[in-house]
Amino acid sequence: MTLPTFDFSPLLPAGRPAPAARWTGLARYSFVGGNNDSEQVPVDGLIDAASAVLRREGKTLATYGLAHGPQGYRPLREFLTAKLKRDAAIDCTADDIMIVSGSLQALDLVNATLLIRGDTVIVEQDTYQGALNRLSRLGVNAVGIPLDHEGMRMDALASALADLKRRGVTPKYIYAIPTVQNPTGTIMPEARRAELLKLSKSFGVPVFEDDCYSDLIWDGKRPPAIHAMSKNGGVIHIGSFSKSIAPALRVGFIVAPWEMLSRMLALKTDAGSGALEQMVLAEYCTPHFTTHVPKLTRGLRAKLDTLMEALNAQFGTSAEFEAPAGGIYLWVKLPGNVDTLKLYQAALAAGVAINPGPEWSTDKTHAGCRLRLCFASPSHEQIREGIAVLAEICRREFGVPARIANVEKRAHTSM
Ligand SMILES: Cc1ncc(COP(=O)(O)O)c(C=O)c1O
Repeated sequence: MTLPTFDFSPLLPAGRPAPAARWTGLARYSFVGGNNDSEQVPVDGLIDAASAVLRREGKTLATYGLAHGPQGYRPLREFLTAKLKRDAAIDCTADDIMIVSGSLQALDLVNATLLIRGDTVIVEQDTYQGALNRLSRLGVNAVGIPLDHEGMRMDALASALADLKRRGVTPKYIYAIPTVQNPTGTIMPEARRAELLKLSKSFGVPVFEDDCYSDLIWDGKRPPAIHAMSKNGGVIHIGSFSKSIAPALRVGFIVAPWEMLSRMLALKTDAGSGALEQMVLAEYCTPHFTTHVPKLTRGLRAKLDTLMEALNAQFGTSAEFEAPAGGIYLWVKLPGNVDTLKLYQAALAAGVAINPGPEWSTDKTHAGCRLRLCFASPSHEQIREGIAVLAEICRREFGVPARIANVEKRAHTSM
């Protein structure tokens, strides 16, 4: 049925983002986004938790914020207080935490509090697309700092800060994903975190620590959070339940000094994040989080092995990568003649969705032949098949891999 259409376009102020494309479904082989393993969502535990908490406290849903105030459901903030102390050495109380609608809302609130058009911030050179997009939409200059196997390079950070200072620019924050970096998967060791704090202090620039993958570490060991190591309160720490439990719940959190939290609360205009999700998470996580997470990471680690085997088999030496310390992504470098923005289009037409490197980097040339593969959401079989199709497409478009290494070429009817 064709409805008569009202023309809204003359009403749209200039500078609004381009319209979104309509959702057309997931690709057959989807290696994109931060989706998790559907087999690992603790569905039964969540059902039990939902039913228990609703029976006990369901009537509190009658009040905005469950009568726990705008910072979120108190038992969830209490769970986080204990968890952050145990895992990340962060010493905070429930009053230092604000629950938000996914850590994406945390990014928006921090940015809305601190940034105006023309500002400068520091980011890792290869970093989260969602952070980069927000900055460019705000007209903020993002200075990328190269990474190595220990995360953001401190020599490069020191010279960038000194260079900006010479030019009279004080960046508003240093955004880092130090614990399982997105997309490279590195963990910044404690000594480097201390160096980062030293630079932050001497240049008067706060650290914005995004720790949303910190639960997904293969050996379960992590250095203290930068927030925990800071002596001057100049660190805003954010985290999420998206990676440890489920992204569709849309529950994240911010730990920050009241001076910042109070400003962000004034900008959080949604009258509180979804209460049922917060109640169910608190009820489920308090007794089960520490047993759920090692199971989840074991499964993710097995999928990473399948992905690395498939890449070795299909691409041979054409695909270079470092095994990440945890998380859900592999950052892959292909030969220099491969343009992953073009590969992305061709692969999508064949049913394989990948994240092209330039969307995840401040240096489009460096990232031009790189791609990010999420291994959490496809099954083992989809990983093997999808990488085989990707290799065929890459060879057809760019001549690499020159031939399929180690395995017999199979016909793929989906192509
Ligand atoms: C580094 C980083 N920060 C934040 C987010 C947003 O996560 P969410 O809003 O689901 O908590 C993501 C999602 O993939 C991410 O990779």
